[in-house]
Amino acid sequence: MSVLAIEGGRKLEGEIAVQGAKNAVLPILAATIMNGGKNTIYNCPKLRDVDKTIEVLEYLGCKVKRQENTLTVDSSSLKEFTIPEELMRQMRSSIIFLGAIVNTFGRATVSMPGGCEIGNRPIDLHLKALRQLGIEIKEEHGYIECSANVIKGANIHLDFPSVGATENIMLSSCRAKGTTTITNAAREPEIVDLQNFLNDMGAKISGAGGSVIQIDGVQTLHGTEHTIITDRIVAATYLACGAATGGSIVLKRVDPAHMEAMINVLKDMGCRLTSEKDKIILYPCKCLKEIPMLRTMPYPGFPTDTQSPFMTLAAIADGTSIFVETIFENRYKHVEELVRMGADIQVDGRVAVVRGVKKLSSANVSARDLRGGAALVVAGLAADGITRISNVEYIDRGYEDIEKYIGYLNGNIKRINC
Ligand code: EPZ
Repeated sequence: MSVLAIEGGRKLEGEIAVQGAKNAVLPILAATIMNGGKNTIYNCPKLRDVDKTIEVLEYLGCKVKRQENTLTVDSSSLKEFTIPEELMRQMRSSIIFLGAIVNTFGRATVSMPGGCEIGNRPIDLHLKALRQLGIEIKEEHGYIECSANVIKGANIHLDFPSVGATENIMLSSCRAKGTTTITNAAREPEIVDLQNFLNDMGAKISGAGGSVIQIDGVQTLHGTEHTIITDRIVAATYLACGAATGGSIVLKRVDPAHMEAMINVLKDMGCRLTSEKDKIILYPCKCLKEIPMLRTMPYPGFPTDTQSPFMTLAAIADGTSIFVETIFENRYKHVEELVRMGADIQVDGRVAVVRGVKKLSSANVSARDLRGGAALVVAGLAADGITRISNVEYIDRGYEDIEKYIGYLNGNIKRINC
């Protein structure tokens, strides 16, 4: 258990290179089991979710070595086609292994991933799509058993552009007989990174980043190396930290094109930002203006993962902001913690009304999920006094060494291990 003690009131300034993307590296690590070779992954962030994924890879029989932000995965001696309950429950996004395992062994058994802090996280779209690929699926006793003699290409329309379902279909079908087309596919940059990794392994996939993805089944796949894209959600969180403290920061190794929705909201709030090829510069912002309406949407809309850090900005802005969380049903758990710090926020179902206050006050608060925890870091930096955040392991799931990076930006966060 550890606590972050955050000194409020310091203007952030300086520059940092942003970490690799959690939501890109997780499906790419799952993909490594399919090629039976040696894989080198650069710019891999040091995160709890990556640690848990490495545990799954090793359970399946992979040899994994990590040197700082470089990971090598040798999947030549795979031995397992199951993921036990305790591993699945530690990280529900391990469902992304389903497609990779069934594609490799012709069968897979994983425990139902179950819900998490932000919602019940159904997988019906995943399972419906896999069935369309000719994979037989039995769901009983809390387990999902898949088997397929032959995986056949299919035309799959997703009722919702689910990121995980899109990824599972890409993984399941890259060695299918024939061609698979996904319509209404998720368009996130992490899907493009997965396509690039799979093609580097010998797959034949095109269209990622758009709503139609085509996967032409191939016979063989091989090991490869790859550099993970930058984490746009972490980058936006650090911009929120800068804006909340009236600071001026430079983010390097970012792709501004992946962050347009978030950059536009910051500009609408009165922030001044400039961007070059792989850099974003935030200039000091005297006072923030309200966000009349912020609705979370699938990419390229405003990402649900930055709803909570941006709600902290709205909590100290002039005027009243309205948030509508359209993606997950339980993603306002940070609200009561922000209210403890003096925020004025009312929630009714998917809608949150945020009336800006002059200043937040430091308090002892508790992270209740990954991005809600990040929102509390933004709040602690903006408040007066020392804010203590418990349950920091939630934040460590997605933010590499957050106290180190904030320290590079002249912030002061101490990690206290209790
Ligand atoms: C991915 O989750 C990300 N996680 C999430 O990031 C992100 O918030 C989400 O995409 C949306 O962008 C990873 O990539 C590991 P979805 P995923 O399938 O794939 C419903 C973070 O903080 N749905 O696009 O689980 C679902 O209930 C995490 O980094 C079904 O109904 O998201 C939700 O309402 C949180 N049936 C919506 O779709 C299904 O079979 C979006 O889910 C699948 C999803």
